[in-house]
Amino acid sequence: MADDPAGKPLLDVLKKRQPDRRPIWFMRQAGRYLPEYIEVRRKAGSFLDLCYSPALAAEVTLQPLRRYDLDAAIIFADILVVPHAMGLKVEFVENEGPSVQLVECAADVERLSGLKDSAQIQAVCESIGRVRNEIANHQVVIGFCGAPWTVASYMVEGRSSERLRAKLAVLRKEKWFDGLIQRLVEESIVYLKAQIRAGVEVLQIFDSWAGDVPVDHRDRVVVEPIRQIVEGVRAEHPDVPVIAFPRGLGAGHIDAAGRLGVEAVSVESETRLADVAGLIEAGCAVQGNLDPIALLAGSEIAKEAASAVLRQVPAHRHIFNLGHGIRQQTDPHVVADVVSHIRMQDRDISIG
Ligand code: CP3
Repeated sequence: MADDPAGKPLLDVLKKRQPDRRPIWFMRQAGRYLPEYIEVRRKAGSFLDLCYSPALAAEVTLQPLRRYDLDAAIIFADILVVPHAMGLKVEFVENEGPSVQLVECAADVERLSGLKDSAQIQAVCESIGRVRNEIANHQVVIGFCGAPWTVASYMVEGRSSERLRAKLAVLRKEKWFDGLIQRLVEESIVYLKAQIRAGVEVLQIFDSWAGDVPVDHRDRVVVEPIRQIVEGVRAEHPDVPVIAFPRGLGAGHIDAAGRLGVEAVSVESETRLADVAGLIEAGCAVQGNLDPIALLAGSEIAKEAASAVLRQVPAHRHIFNLGHGIRQQTDPHVVADVVSHIRMQDRDISIG
């Protein structure tokens, strides 16, 4: 039955139902390690053109699902679509990464526009609708945004960096920086709600650089903004589960998850899942955390590393994933081998 949510392993784990099998998806599962992606990307022109071309964005979203037996599609876009839709210049420079127009003072924050009705957001929502129509009954579409700290760090630095300026703004408790975080909270809520209306069934909030926030400031800059986003979305959509990825919190994940009230936490590769078993005791599912580098070491080593992950968490509370995004140098065949390996291993144990 198309409307019956049971039988979607990812949703089942997030909603504490018994899944038919352990759900699997990969962060950055669409991208340059796939030759078929490179081809579509060339057709699109720039990376942002690809993000805003619903037919092509839907196509690259679906490419990994054609290759691998996965349980989710993550909509093809980028966390920097939000600053772009807020009126800043954003570019992706070939072989260099993102370039974002700087935000440096209260006046810059004031000038940021709202996301509502922006062409960028409408394009992403149209891609979502297309993907939703194409996936199998057991699969779900994941929508996402970047968390305020990680997105703000690109707006304050202008590019990938050590985040020195952003960290200084945090340590100095700059008013304009708090204002920027607050604007990102508000617009992220608007964005995620629009994605839900367009058809996503699960949300992930990427805070890739959470571990860089000075420890005494994490509550204010990492946890509280994500909590506000979750609360804002839930006010209208209480049934859509949220996965938080405050990457790099280590043992701090357990405490953070308690405050966030999310259904799952995605854990970085640097932390052993067994060491954050307290997440499961607290009612949170755990996502992760194969090291993306293990995928570069060949199938045998990657499969061994995947088995080590499986042993640390019960299948019905686990979403298999990486601890960070797939690397560009990854051999797609190794990914296929790892997925088959997990499916085989799980067949040998009873789910539970
Ligand atoms: O398949 C998917 O995961 C969905 C699409 C997706 C992309 N970026 C596509 C992308 C998602 C979920 C993201 C999230 C994202 N973007 C994060 C958080 C996750 C993480 O990896 O930490 C961050 C920090 C960004 C910002 C970003 N986007 C950077 C720093 C870069 C340049 C580095 C790089 O890998 O090129 C990007 C570009 C980007 N985003 C690409 C893709 C497929 C490559 C661009 C290209 O095709 O030329």
